[in-house]
Amino acid sequence: MRLRKNAKVELLRKVPLFETASQRELARIASIASEVEYGQGTTLIHEGSSDDGFFVLLQGEVDVRRGARHLRTLKRGDFFGEIGLVASAPRTASVTTGTPVELLFVSGKDFKKMLSDSPTLALKVLEALGKRLQTTSLAGWS
Ligand code: CMP
Repeated sequence: MRLRKNAKVELLRKVPLFETASQRELARIASIASEVEYGQGTTLIHEGSSDDGFFVLLQGEVDVRRGARHLRTLKRGDFFGEIGLVASAPRTASVTTGTPVELLFVSGKDFKKMLSDSPTLALKVLEALGKRLQTTSLAGWS
């Protein structure tokens, strides 16, 4: 799959993390996001590792696990990898494809550079993360 930039922008607009980003900011994110595809059973993120990429699911499902515990299945439009990206902390969970998937991937370096160049977007990302933390705490995440 090779998306045109406009199509990428439309997908990114539906991602909760970017829901308040402007057209210009979305275009900037689209310019640093690569499209990647993986088969079923691929571990994209290993719990405890220190890599820092961020993923948006375009198609398919992934399973989030901490140790042996299955935490959640994420679907089209969901994103993951934001904690390692923003906090520069070890990955909090492992993420494995449950089906073949299509994803957008943004490296931590590119994403952080964009945030440091755009305080407005950095604030929006912070707000979205705050909302997500609130939701996930209420939902019993740990
Ligand atoms: P990160 O810690 O960077 O890498 C693992 C990712 O799994 C994490 O970011 C979140 O995006 C996601 N994740 C961690 N815990 C949960 C959970 N309880 N439910 C859904 N997703 C989670």
